[in-house]
Amino acid sequence: MIKFIVAIDEKNGLADDNGIPWDLPEDKKYYRDKIKNTSVLMGYNTYTENKSPMSGKLTYVASRESKQLKDGFISVTDPAKLLDEIEEDIWVIGGAGLFSSLIDKADELYITKLEGDFSCTKFFPDYSKDFELVSESELKTDNSINFRFTVYRRKK
Ligand SMILES: NC(=O)c1ccc[n+]([C@@H]2O[C@H](COP(=O)([O-])OP(=O)(O)OC[C@H]3O[C@@H](n4cnc5c(N)ncnc54)[C@H](OP(=O)(O)O)[C@@H]3O)[C@@H](O)[C@H]2O)c1
Repeated sequence: MIKFIVAIDEKNGLADDNGIPWDLPEDKKYYRDKIKNTSVLMGYNTYTENKSPMSGKLTYVASRESKQLKDGFISVTDPAKLLDEIEEDIWVIGGAGLFSSLIDKADELYITKLEGDFSCTKFFPDYSKDFELVSESELKTDNSINFRFTVYRRKK
């Protein structure tokens, strides 16, 4: 199963030029709990914001060139092939460029939806056509931001 996990604002924004423009401790905990025992795949720009791997399993980093990475990270130059061939579950954890290039491979999307417009410059791709909502939490509030945890599954 190929699962994407992301937090987006009401314009599908996921980051501005300085990174993620909100701080939601409850969402961070949700994210850590989800990915902790599963392999993950991230884009090179997201990798640069991480000091060490967060998942207890393999942490792949997509880049068009094979790169020397910090300890615990594995370079992949063809992430689509990795997703086609991998037999275990994997989380694709962003950012925008990686999500856009691999959205056709996703089975499920775990989307934390924030109310409001955070003036993002990087966006999650359109998923409305190919995915349907399968679960949605009650409205939550953290640091005065309202949000919900949602799960979408690829339409049959
Ligand atoms: N809100 C959220 O939930 C969330 C989640 C994750 C990340 N983010 C944020 O997103 C921002 C980064 O997003 P971004 O779009 O700038 O970068 P990104 O997606 O993290 O990384 C883009 C880079 O990944 C590599 N890449 C992407 N697709 C590839 C493919 N199909 N094949 C080979 N390599 C591929 C390329 O690296 P090379 O240029 O080296 O070839 C590309 O330049 C960060 O600020 C991060 O904090 C937000």
